Amino acid sequence: MEPFVPTLEQAERIITQTGQTPIYVTDKQNLSHKARLFRDAFGPGVKIFYALKANYNPAIVLALKEAGIDGLDTVSPYEVLLGKKLGFTSEELLFTGNGCSNDELRQIHEQGVISNLGSLSELKRFGDMFPDAPCAIRLNVDVGDGECAFVVTGGEDTKFGISDCDIGTAKDLIAKYNLTLIGIHGHIGSGFYQKESFVAGVEGILGRAKGFDAPLKFIDFGGGFGIRYHLQKEAINLKNWAGAVQHKLDDFAKTMPEDFHYRLEPGKFLVGESTCLLARVTMVKPERKTTFVGIDTGFNHLIRPTLYGSYHQIINLSATREKRGEKQVTVVGNVCESGDIFGDNIILPNPEEGDILAILSAGAYCQSMSSLYQLRPPASEVMVDGNNINIIRAPMSFENLAEFIAS
Ligand SMILES: Cc1ncc(COP(=O)(O)O)c(C=O)c1O
Repeated sequence: MEPFVPTLEQAERIITQTGQTPIYVTDKQNLSHKARLFRDAFGPGVKIFYALKANYNPAIVLALKEAGIDGLDTVSPYEVLLGKKLGFTSEELLFTGNGCSNDELRQIHEQGVISNLGSLSELKRFGDMFPDAPCAIRLNVDVGDGECAFVVTGGEDTKFGISDCDIGTAKDLIAKYNLTLIGIHGHIGSGFYQKESFVAGVEGILGRAKGFDAPLKFIDFGGGFGIRYHLQKEAINLKNWAGAVQHKLDDFAKTMPEDFHYRLEPGKFLVGESTCLLARVTMVKPERKTTFVGIDTGFNHLIRPTLYGSYHQIINLSATREKRGEKQVTVVGNVCESGDIFGDNIILPNPEEGDILAILSAGAYCQSMSSLYQLRPPASEVMVDGNNINIIRAPMSFENLAEFIAS
């Protein structure tokens, strides 16, 4: 299934029905398709712990739950609380904070959720507070890969995970506090496309896990599976990736107790391609070096291009190349900053004011990273399910916004 692109008729119906642009539009069928694809590739033996940070809209999480995901990877106490509110049990949640305060560790412990500790500091403080408790540890297996440097989380220059030089001390701390090590975890980065990186990550974790000689309940290889930000790009072949590690997984599992299982934590892969952001062209402004096409959204709603230099394909739903011809333009947002650029010198069917543009593959780390910068409210969200259009995040009124910022 391709990244979700609504038809012009569908987009117009959504905009008329809600009275909103910009608006995030999520295709429910795309979500369930991705969950199925993931399950089929890795089989029922690998549990899917969706990385909630990618998109925490409750309707989207519930759609994934309905599609059969097993749990959630969470990174903050409120994510844990949301997971519980949406019906996930403590066992179906894992907390992978980083640089956690004692207070955070306590909140998670009180929720009965396993903390996945990624530094000697956290391990020591956790042991001090909760001797004899079960825990997991996050390792840095010296493999890192991702869409850009900001989201690579393994290797020698990262704050994440316990490195090889600290593994001996980690074992000592686990023994000193009589902690029960039930899980070992690693996550090499977000949005990688090379099977070799995935395989190296899996091998790195399995190899180090052997050295702990502990009867584990799970090994978690993290997420990071790349998606299509360009429609022309070929999708990664998950079945092929899974096949490349299968025998290693089987061999290791034989050395573990009966209730042992593997986990993966895809975020992007499950939600990224399911959603687009619809925006209206408000301004066409020919300048000396380019023609700026202004739209009624900005990096307050979708920050990835500004923050990471990420590419998101933009489609002009209102025009075809045949009818309007093509033009090289720079698509910019309405935030009062020069870096608010969605598409730098891209070719589009010649945009006119009033056109509807769709920014594609906007389901992961877009709405969830949005802000109230310059006091524009969050974009609304709808989910389409066949012919049905359901509002899954209503517009925020000025009164709600004023109350929120003053509270
Ligand atoms: C620990 C952990 N697990 C899973 C993920 C999900 O990554 P992605 O959305 O790229 O699959 C992340 C995000 O970077 C993460 O930090």
